[in-house]
Amino acid sequence: MLADQPDVPVDHPGMSMGPMLPEDLDQIVVLEKLCFSNPWSRSVFEATLISPLVYTLVQRHGDKVLGYLMAFRQGSGIEIGNIAVAPAHRRRGIGHQLMSEALRVATEEGRRSARLSVRESSTGAIHLYESFGFEQVGVSLGYYRSPPEDALLMRKNLG
Ligand SMILES: CC(C)(COP(=O)(O)OP(=O)(O)OC[C@H]1O[C@@H](n2cnc3c(N)ncnc32)[C@H](O)[C@@H]1OP(=O)(O)O)[C@@H](O)C(=O)NCCC(=O)NCCS
Repeated sequence: MLADQPDVPVDHPGMSMGPMLPEDLDQIVVLEKLCFSNPWSRSVFEATLISPLVYTLVQRHGDKVLGYLMAFRQGSGIEIGNIAVAPAHRRRGIGHQLMSEALRVATEEGRRSARLSVRESSTGAIHLYESFGFEQVGVSLGYYRSPPEDALLMRKNLG
């Protein structure tokens, strides 16, 4: 159904990036369960899709969803709420492209900062964020459940 293709380079002609659409949700919900121990439910995605405060991005190959990102407009900044790439398609630059586009749009909108929370054991994600200049600004003790874990709070200035 998704992410079942062989290696697809990030610059492949069939690749495209755009907003999340209602018809993506079947694949997104499957991906979300694959990528997170506490996945967001379909109803959360449905609600966020119609919110003007949410900015969404999906990386597709044809009609297959390979990755997605959701960002929340909050005052003068954005909060990256969710970023995920299908396990079979990681380390090919998709996460980088999603984050790069989200930060570009946020900067274009005049946002001053980007924030996010990340499990302290998610070293791959932390490396990705650090490569964009995010820095740790705090810790939220016991923020996550299943399994319980602290969150690192990270921030980057924009503009
Ligand atoms: C985090 C995630 C989105 C990264 O997606 P990705 O497409 O594999 O990332 P990219 O290929 O664009 O990686 C860009 C850079 O990030 C860093 N990085 C990404 N994954 C990494 C890993 N597992 N280990 C170390 N560094 C990593 C590297 O610096 C990498 O550059 P390089 O490949 O040239 O070394 C993906 O691993 C994922 O979906 N993880 C599960 C969900 C998750 O934890 N999301 C974050 C929630 S806060």
